[in-house]
Amino acid sequence: MGRFFVILVCCLLLSTLTNSSKPAIINPSQSVRDGETLLSDGGSFQLGFFNPANSTNQYLGLWFTKSPQTVLWVANRETPFTDRFGVLNITREGILILYSRSSNIVWLSNSSRTEENPVAELLESGNLVVREENDKNPANFLWQSFDYPCDTMLPGMRLGINFVTRLESSLSSWKTSEDPARGEFSLLLDPNGYPQLVLKKGNKTLARAGSWNGIRFTAQTTSTPDSISTSEFVLNEKEGYFVFGITSLGFPRLTLTPEGIPQRSIWNDRTHQWQFVEIAQLDICEHYSICGANAYCQINNSPICSCLDGFMPKSLRDWKLSNWSGGCVRRTPCSDKDRFENYSRMKLPDTSSSWYNKSTGLEECKEICLKNCSCTAYANLDVRGGGSGCLIWFGGLIDTRRSNGDGQDLYVRIAVSELENIEKKRPVDKKKQAVIIASSVILVLGLLIVGVISYTRKTYLRKNYNSEERTQDMELPWYDFSTIGHATNNFSSSNKLGEGGFGPVYKVNRSLILVQTI
Ligand SMILES: *[C@@H]1O[C@H](CO)[C@@H](O)[C@H](O)[C@H]1NC(C)=O
Ligand SMILES: *[C@@H]1O[C@H](CO)[C@@H](O)[C@H](O)[C@H]1NC(C)=O
Ligand SMILES: *[C@@H]1O[C@H](CO)[C@@H](O)[C@H](O)[C@H]1NC(C)=O
Ligand SMILES: *[C@@H]1O[C@H](CO)[C@@H](O)[C@H](O)[C@H]1NC(C)=O
Ligand SMILES: *[C@@H]1O[C@H](CO)[C@@H](O)[C@H](O)[C@H]1NC(C)=O
Ligand SMILES: *[C@@H]1O[C@H](CO)[C@@H](O)[C@H](O)[C@H]1NC(C)=O
Ligand SMILES: *[C@@H]1O[C@H](CO)[C@@H](O)[C@H](O)[C@H]1NC(C)=O
Ligand SMILES: *[C@@H]1O[C@H](CO)[C@@H](O)[C@H](O)[C@H]1NC(C)=O
Repeated sequence: MGRFFVILVCCLLLSTLTNSSKPAIINPSQSVRDGETLLSDGGSFQLGFFNPANSTNQYLGLWFTKSPQTVLWVANRETPFTDRFGVLNITREGILILYSRSSNIVWLSNSSRTEENPVAELLESGNLVVREENDKNPANFLWQSFDYPCDTMLPGMRLGINFVTRLESSLSSWKTSEDPARGEFSLLLDPNGYPQLVLKKGNKTLARAGSWNGIRFTAQTTSTPDSISTSEFVLNEKEGYFVFGITSLGFPRLTLTPEGIPQRSIWNDRTHQWQFVEIAQLDICEHYSICGANAYCQINNSPICSCLDGFMPKSLRDWKLSNWSGGCVRRTPCSDKDRFENYSRMKLPDTSSSWYNKSTGLEECKEICLKNCSCTAYANLDVRGGGSGCLIWFGGLIDTRRSNGDGQDLYVRIAVSELENIEKKRPVDKKKQAVIIASSVILVLGLLIVGVISYTRKTYLRKNYNSEERTQDMELPWYDFSTIGHATNNFSSSNKLGEGGFGPVYKVNRSLILVQTI
């Protein structure tokens, strides 16, 4: 009898200590206290109070039930509780309010409308919404957490801008892994000109993913479309946004780390881990405007920056000192007799001062560009089905690169005389050709030897692989999940090399690809 009583007391104690889950919905007569959680209908997501590792501050946040350590959204990211007496209420007007112990308002949601019977619900998508009790239409939500992302983008979340309400949804990094307050880095859709996805540090652009070409962002140089999630870009008079969805492979997310690195990962139900499938390629050519205006970056060229044809360095001295930021200027003044040079495999330039029309063809696009001297280049807007639409640039062509893999055709304005010069240089006589062929053979042989040497060196380095090498060598290309899955035997333990700072490192069968998991 006594033992039974002890067990009973223990059970009671335990249930007050561990989180107790409530159904997904609260109304104005209910609340969520620290220690309680809301569970979405299908059980995938939980909303509750948490404290980050090494921190005693309490926040209201939501997470994937299977991975409570990875918080995906935080309400009071700037205003933490220092005790465990926080409580979430919803008012009769439909406003979510976080109260402290002394009933001070710590955080509140915003809404421009009110409803008779508002409720707050944690949806199975991970979206916390405020809606009228009997109205489940997303268009009528009073408020939703998906409109106010923190550092994580989830399937169905829109990253972009609503031109009517001026509401902008962007990702902003945490300050540190222990502090969810807004950090320096953000990932957002720049709505100027043709909208493009950019990574910023404060108000300074660090890198551009580029504009959407119907299949992918133009900075992505893989030729295969993304397979870990289905991506979509929507642009009309009302709104412009990027959104991705779930595939059969699992639940994907996009996170901006406190260090400003966009990371994509997918929840693997077999390993019960977030598998990092791709790290943004941040080689030197991705540094925003590294070559300045009217020049392009090519990673295996020396120097990496070259002026576009018909342009010359603005300051030859700076250019020779590898300070390319001044860029290049036209050698001859603009005229309406100008032509266009076709550059293939290009990452299209910064579109913040561009103009576009979805229904204009390439020939008409060229005519429009030619008429205006501030127009410097044009390209197709959409590459699907042989290309369609018209995108034209005004002023300097900034932040463009030539890739070895995929890219787009960019038509750059050039004076007739310049184009003729280039064409004159092209045909070479037989004697010159022989010399070129001979020297090419020598060059290829030389490269082969260098290749063999560097290969053996690399094999040696790989054996002595360390984390320092990894942080220095950020030149990781984008791989799609299925490729890596194949290459690592579906992340089999026999392919595991060891554990790095971020998690397991796998060996792949063709070459070494880092797959990081936490
Ligand atoms: C929050 O809601 C609960 C339940 O309706 C209520 O008891 C409490 O007084 C509310 N807190 C505040 C500060 O309004
Ligand atoms: C917590 O602090 C310890 C000691 O300072 C540190 O080793 C650890 O990495 C920290 N954890 C996190 C998540 O920052
Ligand atoms: C709430 O709305 C007002 C006006 O609509 C706006 O100025 C304010 O920034 C909003 N606050 C939040 C937290 O979104
Ligand atoms: C960017 O921020 C810095 C420092 O906060 C400020 O001095 C500068 O004027 C800002 N630039 C623009 C274009 O807003
Ligand atoms: C690079 O050149 C620009 C002018 O084109 C100058 O303002 C800048 O200070 C130079 N940077 C360095 C590191 O010399
Ligand atoms: C531009 O070059 C690409 C690749 O060589 C070619 O496919 C395309 O047809 C060219 N465009 C025009 C208008 O000739
Ligand atoms: C876009 O192009 C179409 C067809 O050329 C034209 O009818 C339409 O007016 C253009 N739109 C704008 C905004 O110029
Ligand atoms: C050329 O384009 C610029 C930028 O859109 C515009 O401000 C200017 O008025 C245009 N000039 C002519 C002659 O159409």
